[in-house]
Amino acid sequence: MKILLIGSGGREHALAWQLKKNPRVQLISAPGSSALAALGEIEQISPDNISGLVTLAKRKRPDLTIIGPEAPLVLGLADHLRAEGLAVFGPSSRAAQIEGSKVFAKDFMVRHNLPTANYAVFYDKEEAQQYLEGASYPLVLKADGLAQGKGVIICGKLEAALKAITELASLEAGRRILIEEYLAGEEISYFVLTDGRNIVPLPSAQDHKTIYDNDCGPNTGGMGAYCPAPLVTPTLERIILDTIIRPTVLGLATEGTPYSGLLYAGLMITLSGPKVLEFNARFGDPETQALMPLLKSDLAEICLAVAQGRLNEIEVEWENKTAATVVMSAEGYPGPYRQGDLITGLEEANSQPGVVVFEAGVERKMEGASFNSYTKGGRVLAVTAVNDDLPGAVDLAYEAVGKISWPGAHYRRDIGGKALRKSLLYDSGSD
Ligand SMILES: Nc1ncnc2c1ncn2[C@@H]1O[C@H](COP(=O)(O)OP(=O)(O)O)[C@@H](O)[C@H]1O
Ligand SMILES: [Mg+2]
Repeated sequence: MKILLIGSGGREHALAWQLKKNPRVQLISAPGSSALAALGEIEQISPDNISGLVTLAKRKRPDLTIIGPEAPLVLGLADHLRAEGLAVFGPSSRAAQIEGSKVFAKDFMVRHNLPTANYAVFYDKEEAQQYLEGASYPLVLKADGLAQGKGVIICGKLEAALKAITELASLEAGRRILIEEYLAGEEISYFVLTDGRNIVPLPSAQDHKTIYDNDCGPNTGGMGAYCPAPLVTPTLERIILDTIIRPTVLGLATEGTPYSGLLYAGLMITLSGPKVLEFNARFGDPETQALMPLLKSDLAEICLAVAQGRLNEIEVEWENKTAATVVMSAEGYPGPYRQGDLITGLEEANSQPGVVVFEAGVERKMEGASFNSYTKGGRVLAVTAVNDDLPGAVDLAYEAVGKISWPGAHYRRDIGGKALRKSLLYDSGSD
């Protein structure tokens, strides 16, 4: 099966690593990375060069195209490829608006009665400022469009909010701004596969968004994850499916924009139940790096079944284990970061049983008879470990992380910490 994979990050490395477990899969990645080049062909076409990618697909005629990042989805890559008669894993541009426009997503949530934070939309900075003067805090300010994680600011008081509104209004995505009620609780990432009618839930995951331990410092693309999330009990999962996921998939279909691909609900588990923070139209990064090593079924067959609208025919099986992923980043990230540093210990970490290293910002260079790896990105790599339980997975992941180094390497030391502390409390409480 010839598969075209769009993207270049750690998420795509994890997907490719899982796809290649099927020996019949022949992989082409665009634009790919050093790690993806080791698993197949790569074509240097950027994910937002839609006409370039369509030309490539027409030339290669893949049996399936899997679209990793959000930008090409929102720009309509899936629609163009489907118009060429090609099978695609990923939603249409109109369905991807659920991620591409936060105003669209919130209005959709209200139309379909989904639990979410109260909000107001502003087209004008002055009006938003007036609203902020009379509001109570904390509040959350969000730019409408795709902003690569830079479009959301949580504000504890008026002064911060007034500063934030100016910041957001200067973004391309900030022509419309949402002001949202602040939700307290614990955040989870809930993924389902859907072909527009059938729904297959995946094990839940938790991301760690800030750069420093104890959820301090600025937000990043994600510094670690674990899967499944112990917070998501069977009862909570039933509530999520009944009050959020099913109405969303049905609502998109009845509005004439059926959703096919991976639907990612970012949820806040509040005292009054799960509420939607946002939807994403693709796999999460780094949650996918924790998820993929737990998948027992053939990812290529699953994605093809989604693309062909026959998800009901597929059995999706998971290891009954836990995965923990620790992201290692370059000095300076999420601001301007150092790059070009030699990475040591990668092979050694990777060869540990139960450990796999997914590369995001790594460049392999041939030097003599072998290659060396250098940093080339903010989030450099993600170390995933699989074990029987969360403490085991976390310990193993950190053991492997300890083997990898480069000047200025940074990682959080508390991945899984919150869930571990909770389970300790629970254990001692039940004595
Ligand atoms: N209403 C809210 N209440 C509390 N925290 C929020 C709220 N909305 C967003 N957040 C926080 O901000 C982060 C980013 O917001 P999100 O809507 O997911 O936008 P994006 O991922 O596009 O930056 C969330 O992961 C969450 O931690
Ligand atoms: Mg988010």
